[in-house]
Amino acid sequence: MAELPPDLSTALDEALRGADSGGLTRAAQKLIRQYRDGFDPAERMPLGSAADVAAYAAYRMPATYAAVAAALRHSAALLPGFAPRTHVDVGGGTGAAIWAAAEVWPSIEETTVLEQAPEAIAFGRRLAGRSDSPAVREARWLRTVIDGPVRTPASDLVTMSYVLGELPPGARTDAVRSLAAEAAVVVLVEPGTPAGYERIVETRDLLIELGLSVVAPCPHDGPCPIPRGEDWCHFAERLNRTALHRRIKVASLGFEDEKFCYVAAARNDRPRASGRVVRRPLKRKGMVALRLCTETSGVTDVTVSKRQGDLYRAARKIDWGDAWPP
Ligand SMILES: C[S@@+](CC[C@H](N)C(=O)[O-])C[C@H]1O[C@@H](n2cnc3c(N)ncnc32)[C@H](O)[C@@H]1O
Repeated sequence: MAELPPDLSTALDEALRGADSGGLTRAAQKLIRQYRDGFDPAERMPLGSAADVAAYAAYRMPATYAAVAAALRHSAALLPGFAPRTHVDVGGGTGAAIWAAAEVWPSIEETTVLEQAPEAIAFGRRLAGRSDSPAVREARWLRTVIDGPVRTPASDLVTMSYVLGELPPGARTDAVRSLAAEAAVVVLVEPGTPAGYERIVETRDLLIELGLSVVAPCPHDGPCPIPRGEDWCHFAERLNRTALHRRIKVASLGFEDEKFCYVAAARNDRPRASGRVVRRPLKRKGMVALRLCTETSGVTDVTVSKRQGDLYRAARKIDWGDAWPP
């Protein structure tokens, strides 16, 4: 089960304490509808009011944090020498990715958030002020509307989570090109839907065309072997729902699975994973069944049995999204 770091959990509790729960529920229900059906062009912007931002922080930020943290952990596992000092997060919202990056890479000293919505900046800054990480506490929050190439300082790490789908389609390519030119490592995360996957595949192709190579999740830079229209590459993180989260989402389950797609790419050569677990592993008595995306054989199903000793013991511990063999 994915957990928020204690300082973020406390910061969120404090920021949401005393909020009108009826207002949060209405705002959350509106956002859920908008993210599902698209935004009304008459709305100023998705996170345009303080109520929208508080609702987003309460019901989405824990999930986007969990997804970004997982994508960054998987990337870090394949970037052993990478100790970023500078981080730029694009379309940062309330700051989920800067908390996740600081957790995965405590080497980060300078953080910049680019975001269009002033209310999201105000809320994100307030949360960040409670972080144990100096890089998060002292992050620069810059009001920026992205409608083409992004003007950003050169940076060791660039992240953009749950934003590509909100950019005007014509601006996506220019934005990614400019980010790729300025960063050593770029990580993009999108919802784990067929549409999110399509955006990630397109962006992955563009990053490769620009001379970067994929760090994760793919163990290769070749075309994605998953047949389009039949399936899509995605991962999931299970997280607890707080009582407030359940109330405003009008949900009864005490947990949810955040499905996400991502791509991480880097300029430098490095060792690759030879495979990636692309489905929840099936663990039965004496065997583990894994669906893998592999460097050499595309997507393939593998069964690891008890007779395989150490490999079997490793397979018992493996999760959806991990590299294989570990
Ligand atoms: C779904 S939220 C994701 C927020 C955050 N990255 C996360 O993972 O929780 C999308 C964010 O992108 C911002 N955004 C969307 N279009 C933008 C644009 N053209 N320029 C700058 N920010 C934008 C929105 O204001 C919002 O904060």
